[in-house]
Amino acid sequence: MHATLAEGVNWVGIIDWTVRDFHGYETRRGSTYNSYLVQGEKTALIDAVKAPFADTLLGNIDETVGLGSVDYVVANHAEPDHSGSLAAVMAACPKATLVTNEKCAEILEGYYGAREWPTHIVTTGDSLDLGGRTLSFVQVPMVHWPDSMVTYCPEEHILFSNDAFGQHLASSGRFDDELDLSVVMDEAKTYYANIVMLYGRPIARALEAVGGLQIAMIAPAHGVIWREHVAEILDAYNDWVRCRPRARLLVIYESMWGSTDAMAHEILAGALGHGAEIELLEVGSTGRTRIATEVLDAAVLAVGSPTLNMTLMPEVAGVLTYLKGLAPRNKAGLAFGSYGWAPSGPKEVHAALEGMGVEMLGEPLTARWRPDDEVRARCREAGRMMAERAVRAAAEGHLYPV
Ligand code: FEO
Repeated sequence: MHATLAEGVNWVGIIDWTVRDFHGYETRRGSTYNSYLVQGEKTALIDAVKAPFADTLLGNIDETVGLGSVDYVVANHAEPDHSGSLAAVMAACPKATLVTNEKCAEILEGYYGAREWPTHIVTTGDSLDLGGRTLSFVQVPMVHWPDSMVTYCPEEHILFSNDAFGQHLASSGRFDDELDLSVVMDEAKTYYANIVMLYGRPIARALEAVGGLQIAMIAPAHGVIWREHVAEILDAYNDWVRCRPRARLLVIYESMWGSTDAMAHEILAGALGHGAEIELLEVGSTGRTRIATEVLDAAVLAVGSPTLNMTLMPEVAGVLTYLKGLAPRNKAGLAFGSYGWAPSGPKEVHAALEGMGVEMLGEPLTARWRPDDEVRARCREAGRMMAERAVRAAAEGHLYPV
C-alpha cells in the first residue's frame, strides 16, 4: 500500500489500527508510522516504522521501487516507533547508506549496534543531492528527543517533520482533506499535549528554524499529511508552544464518599454564566490523556481530592505526576477537597500545583466530612472568581514567554 504526495514521492508507512497505549498515552484512534520514499536519480527512504511492522514496510518499499533501489535511509529520530525496523531495512537494502545526525547515530548504536551500517552524518544546513531532488536537514533537538531532525525537499516544498505536527490517528485517508478537520485537529492537539507539551521552547525554536521555508506539505511521522490545512496547524502550534490560555476553567477531581464531588459541582455552579467555558472532569472516568489535552489551553484549573490515608487520592496523584512531567504553562489554580481529621489531601494537591508553577489563587478550599452551606457558598464564590480569572487570562493573551 502506498500514497502519492508528488510524482516520485510516496508514503510507504504502516497503519496501526489497534494500538491503544503509546507509552501511557491512550491512543483511542490508533496511529500510523509514516515512511516516505523520495526518488530522484537516487532513492531515499525517510524514517522507518515499529519493529513488528518491518515485513510490511519492506513489502511496501519493494512494491514501490524495489528494495535494491534504495540508496539512502534517512533517520530523523531514533525512538523505536521510527527505528525498530531499521536493522531489517538496512539488511534488506544492500545499497543503502544510513543518513542521520551524530546524536541519532549514537542512540541507534545504543539500540541496534548501528555502527556496523554504512553511515553518512549530517547536521543543520547539510543537503543530500538525489539527482533532480534534494533533501536538506534541520536538527530540532527535543522535538521530541535530543536527536530529532526534520528533512526538507525544496523542489516539492515538502517538510518531513517526524514527530512534529503528528497525530496518533489511524485512518483510510492519508491527507488532512480526506478526514473531518475537527477530528484531525483534536488528535493533533492531543498528540501535542501528551507528547511534546514539555518542549514548548525547543518547538518554538524549531518553528523559527523552518519558518523561512516555503511549505506546501507537512509530512509527519504519525497521522495524516497536511496539504490543505498547513496554515491552520502552524497557527495552532504557535498557540500551543505558548500554552496560550483560552477562557476555560477545568474542574478536575476524584471523590471518595461524595463530598469532594459536591464541592466540584458547587464550583461548577458558581462558575457558570461568567463568560468562561467550564468542564467538569472526574479523573477516573476521564483518563489522564484527555485531561492533559484539556489542560493545554485552559487558563484555570480547580483540582480536588479528599484525604485518603493522610495523602491524596491515587488517581489524582497520577494525573498530577503526569502533568508535572508535561509542564503546562500559563495556568492559575485552586485546590479543594474534603477530609475527616486532616486536610492533607487538598493541601498536597495545592503543593503539587504550586510545584509545577501554577499561580495559586488562594489556600485550599476544604470541607470537614460534608460541605455545609457556608462551604458550598465559598465553593460557588470560588467558581465565579476562577471563571472571571479565566476570561481575563484569555484577554491578556500570551503570558508564557517563549
Ligand atoms: Fe514518534 Fe518520539 O517518536
